[in-house]
Amino acid sequence: MRIDVSDSGCGIPEKIRERIFEPFFTTQEVGRGSGLGLAIARSIVVEKHGGSLMFESNVGEGTTFSILLPVEGAQRPAAATAR
Ligand SMILES: Nc1ncnc2c1ncn2[C@@H]1O[C@H](COP(=O)(O)OP(=O)(O)O)[C@@H](O)[C@H]1O
Ligand SMILES: [Mg+2]
Repeated sequence: MRIDVSDSGCGIPEKIRERIFEPFFTTQEVGRGSGLGLAIARSIVVEKHGGSLMFESNVGEGTTFSILLPVEGAQRPAAATAR
């Protein structure tokens, strides 16, 4: 299953693209950005559900994030499972 979310915002400059999923990385001012949104999104989509989180961006035009989830669920069992 794939979900695309597009905006018509400022776009993501090439030089920060490799950092946007880093916890606490933000370009927003102090007190506004937490830098956690995409780190948490990646944790949920990739680590918990075995999916992918991708984006395409054009500076000055906007950004599209794509969430891909395996319909059959994560292919490996969760690392910590209490029994
Ligand atoms: N839709 C977007 N358009 C432009 N830049 C974005 C977008 N989403 C994320 N970014 C960039 O990635 C950084 C990290 O995003 P995020 O983890 O959501 O933290 P936050 O929103 O608190 O800054 C943002 O500060 C911004 O530089
Ligand atoms: Mg955010």
